[in-house]
Amino acid sequence: MKILLTGARVIDPAQKIDTITDIMLAEGKICKTGIDLLKTAKSKDTSKVKIIELDGMVLAPGLIDIHTHLREPGQEYKETVASGALAAVAGGFTSIACMPNTDPVNDNRSITEFIKRKAAEAALANVYPIGAISRDSAGKQLTEFWDLKEAGAVAVSDDGKPVMDAALMRHALEYAYSLGLPVISHCEDTDLSAGGQMNEGYYSTILGLRGIPAIAEEAMVARDILLAEFTKTHVHIAHVSTEGSVRLIREAKKRGLKITAETAPHYFTLTDEALQTYDTRLKVNPPLRSARDVASIREGLADGTLDAIVTDHAPHARTDKELEFEYAANGISGLETSLSLSLRLVSEGILSLPELIARMSPNPARILNLPGGTLENGAAADITVIDPQLTWTVNAKSFCSKGRNTPFHGWEMRGKAVLTIVGGEIKYAGPSLNI
Ligand code: DOR
Ligand code: ZN
Repeated sequence: MKILLTGARVIDPAQKIDTITDIMLAEGKICKTGIDLLKTAKSKDTSKVKIIELDGMVLAPGLIDIHTHLREPGQEYKETVASGALAAVAGGFTSIACMPNTDPVNDNRSITEFIKRKAAEAALANVYPIGAISRDSAGKQLTEFWDLKEAGAVAVSDDGKPVMDAALMRHALEYAYSLGLPVISHCEDTDLSAGGQMNEGYYSTILGLRGIPAIAEEAMVARDILLAEFTKTHVHIAHVSTEGSVRLIREAKKRGLKITAETAPHYFTLTDEALQTYDTRLKVNPPLRSARDVASIREGLADGTLDAIVTDHAPHARTDKELEFEYAANGISGLETSLSLSLRLVSEGILSLPELIARMSPNPARILNLPGGTLENGAAADITVIDPQLTWTVNAKSFCSKGRNTPFHGWEMRGKAVLTIVGGEIKYAGPSLNI
């Protein structure tokens, strides 16, 4: 069945399109775009076309999250591939790339293939596995990048942990370069962050929690920029959280180095001041930083230093979070709040809507060489429809994700994904659309 999406404001940063027009989908692809498609369709046999009226809506290329944690294999009580993929489409994401810190770690071909099989069975979002840089992400021995790539891994990373050994990281970059595999770096010097629970600063002092200094991140960002320059390789910096990291990345880009970078909504929405409640839902790694850092992250997003917004979706069970602060797991379940939190940047005048969509679809696609990120004729029909005016209240209990660990529970939001189409099939339709 063909689908005709009519009346929406179509924004495709890749083609520099921002206009009200119609889009026809057929055989899983975008087949036509134009203002008169509805009239033409109505003059023909309409029983063969599903017409969806989208007046007042924004239609964008499907959102792509290149930093998701799914917990399968090993911790299915936190999230499965299927429950994560369902949360993805409910949050407006047509594609997600999942980090390898499962149990066991995705450090070999059979686990990469297993994740792909589970994703195909779920048939919701596109799921792209990321393989580990080192065996068991232990930072000692490189994995078989060639095997991982052959099995379907789109990048390598030890995310959750840094690669502390600079020589190992150098070899990882050289090996990855020869295969065209992007390397995603979790930047944390674990000697500097050891024992830390939250950002080191005024609030860690008054709360009596051991701090994680900004330099634990920045020292590693600096090292990886130098390694990217030395090996002439692309490095993608994960979850940037500090002012100094933004400055280092900005300077590196100015010098023409192949550095890309991402941040997540909690790093431009919350500060460490919120931790005065000792609420473990606010515990993430890297930690929530100071107001000054948050301002720099926003500037970095505005001037393009930070290429992408990712969720860093890190689902955990109640038993992992309802503990003394020191023992609670790090992470926020982010897939179902990420778009709405990011839309605040538009209402606050920090990004235009096309700039925001660029950071959530074509830019992430480009960083990991993924398909998608455009509404060009012939491209896969991966589409996200956003109702920019829809107001809603976050209710963790109604999440599709098994992870209800969100500090945004109860927050009032404006703007939400109401329709998610993957490969021409409707995978999520919000109740307000009535289809
Ligand atoms: O907050 C985080 N959660 N940071 C990480 O680096 C890992 C992640 C997880 O896997 O839960
Ligand atoms: Zn992560």
